[in-house]
Amino acid sequence: MTASKLALVTGANRGIGFEVCRQLLGKGFRVILAARDLEKAKQAAQQLSPEVIPVALDVTSSESIEQLRTWLEHQHGGLDVLINNAGIYPDEGQNILKVPVHAFREAMEVNAFAALEISQALFPLLEKRKGQIINVSSEMGAWEDLHPSTSAYRLSKLALNGITLMLSRAGRGHISVNAVCPGWVRTDMGGPDAPGSVQEGASGIVWLAEQVRGTGSFYQNRQQIDW
Ligand SMILES: NC(=O)c1ccc[n+]([C@@H]2O[C@H](COP(=O)([O-])OP(=O)(O)OC[C@H]3O[C@@H](n4cnc5c(N)ncnc54)[C@H](OP(=O)(O)O)[C@@H]3O)[C@@H](O)[C@H]2O)c1
Repeated sequence: MTASKLALVTGANRGIGFEVCRQLLGKGFRVILAARDLEKAKQAAQQLSPEVIPVALDVTSSESIEQLRTWLEHQHGGLDVLINNAGIYPDEGQNILKVPVHAFREAMEVNAFAALEISQALFPLLEKRKGQIINVSSEMGAWEDLHPSTSAYRLSKLALNGITLMLSRAGRGHISVNAVCPGWVRTDMGGPDAPGSVQEGASGIVWLAEQVRGTGSFYQNRQQIDW
């Protein structure tokens, strides 16, 4: 029974995050739609349902994370599902020998460290509900996929996978923590030539959110895949 579960999705004003919110609503979740620009969060929420709660969250800002945590604790007292979805793709197709190190730092900040900091902040609220953290990762960060192109993005998702595994061990018995790759899908990030639809990408994430399916695993297309 998921009717009263509360889910928070980061980077949800567009792309996969927005579609995840739409599908979660359809499954009976209460949805908090987070975006770094509150106006964009409000506009996105309005497109979905008056019941969607728009909030501001710049995932790279400790202050923004703390504001969200305080609000969540006072307004809701707990959280069932945290979906760390916000991400950037700063070095598409570029070779590791040419990618400036600042691009690696930016990718790490948004794609890995932000998910860690949000998870640290919300962990106690998730523990209260025996909740779950779902980190939206990419098969591009899997060991077998560490090609020299798009290396800043790959390394950030490799780091996110490591964070997922360590958080899952920290939360064992209390909360479940998994990573999921949505596949290559058509969004601003995925581009128009991606083979999959945004609906397909989101559905594997929502499948994980619907019920706890163990902890410390990496999924794609509803199947466990190798780190
Ligand atoms: N699309 C694919 O093919 C694909 C494949 C594998 C994995 N993924 C992963 O899926 C997730 C979503 O990707 P997408 O395709 O939906 O990307 P997208 O269309 O580019 O959307 C990215 C989202 O992240 C937000 N974001 C970026 N930096 C942020 C920050 N500092 N604070 C808050 N929000 C921030 C963006 O907000 P703004 O609008 O404010 O910029 C936007 O809402 C990412 O983690 C991505 O790595 C995507």
